Amino acid sequence: MNKEFLNLGFQPLANEYLSKASPKQKKYNLKVLFNNKTKMVSISKRISSKVMFNAKYPYRSSMSRTMRKSFENLSKEIKKRFCPNLILEIGSNDGALITNFNRKNVIGVEPCKNLAKITKKKNYVTYDDYWNINLSTKIKRKYNSIDLIYSANTLTHISNLDDVFKSITNLLSKNGILIIEDPSLLECLKNNSYDQFYNEHIYLFSALSVKNLLRKYNLEIFDIKNLTTHGGSHRYYIKRTKNSEIKILSSVKKQLFKEKKYGLDKFSTYKNFSGRVMQSKFALTKILKKIKDKNKKIIGYGATAKAVTVMNYCNIDKNLISIFTDTTPEKVNNYMPGKNIKIVKYHKNILNNYNYVFLGAWNFKKEIFKKEKNFIKRGGRFITHIPKPRII
Ligand code: TYD
Repeated sequence: MNKEFLNLGFQPLANEYLSKASPKQKKYNLKVLFNNKTKMVSISKRISSKVMFNAKYPYRSSMSRTMRKSFENLSKEIKKRFCPNLILEIGSNDGALITNFNRKNVIGVEPCKNLAKITKKKNYVTYDDYWNINLSTKIKRKYNSIDLIYSANTLTHISNLDDVFKSITNLLSKNGILIIEDPSLLECLKNNSYDQFYNEHIYLFSALSVKNLLRKYNLEIFDIKNLTTHGGSHRYYIKRTKNSEIKILSSVKKQLFKEKKYGLDKFSTYKNFSGRVMQSKFALTKILKKIKDKNKKIIGYGATAKAVTVMNYCNIDKNLISIFTDTTPEKVNNYMPGKNIKIVKYHKNILNNYNYVFLGAWNFKKEIFKKEKNFIKRGGRFITHIPKPRII
């Protein structure tokens, strides 16, 4: 049974950047639930994929060096460790992963037509459609089976997980490998990063919930890697239960143990988290107000979906954070959903007129600090809410 533990108030669609400021943007009550039986954490309100992932979808995987590097390393590992003939990526976005492979060996699936166009243009086979049993059957008719299916930060965005996994097992070869990669529930709770919750993140996976989920499809995890991407993610390596040639590595037991030790299987853990989230809201707004009272200027860095959750939950508008900057062309000159803070194009002197930078893309803190050495040198300070609101 699903039980609510967190209410993040009324939130707009996190990636719905408007070209004109509007007080009327549609909002949804964002509640987060824990299922005591399956151990799955999910949000209550499901928005249709067609509304969220359309031909104007602004998120691009290739926008940060960190993500490009992560996909490049993974492609090397896949080639060496699994030697697949044919790879399929569900949610291939702008091709950050697939372009590391030979065109003959890889297929992309990307429903956002603006993104699919990018890889199609580079002559990579790309299906610009939603991942479901119809598409899986269509691909099966042409390619018979796939040796390795990969998906990062996508499966948690699809409401019907039963269809997702049926579509995967329909296509995966007998000894095929499935690799999925998504933000870590354990890291989210440890970091108080409640901003991992927004309309697109329907689920936040843990090893516990993934293990329970896979059982029904005769799949099991045989390895888990902990990644630093997206503020802490897990990469789950999955095989068919029947495939006894692949051994289950100790990383799986270790992760399950860590999660149980932290209490990810108990509702009380989530209730405690919810209390910390409320404290985080008060502490962050207090810091921002104090700075504004001194007539100092604050700019937001990285107009992320995560920052949209923070702005709307903490009720932060342009009186506190004057402006946001971002490198993504689709976001520039638009407004932060729900709070109408303008997003301006990033350039290397953009921080010159500001005293403080709110880290919207806190998950790229290292990359940003390196890039903004001059701002730091001249006494500029960063504000983050992760793991606790503070000035760095
Ligand atoms: P990400 O944290 O992956 O976002 P989300 O919460 O939406 O999943 O996205 C990072 C965003 O930050 C993306 O819009 C690009 C932007 N960005 C910059 O503008 N400059 C930078 O130096 C970095 C690293 C990211």
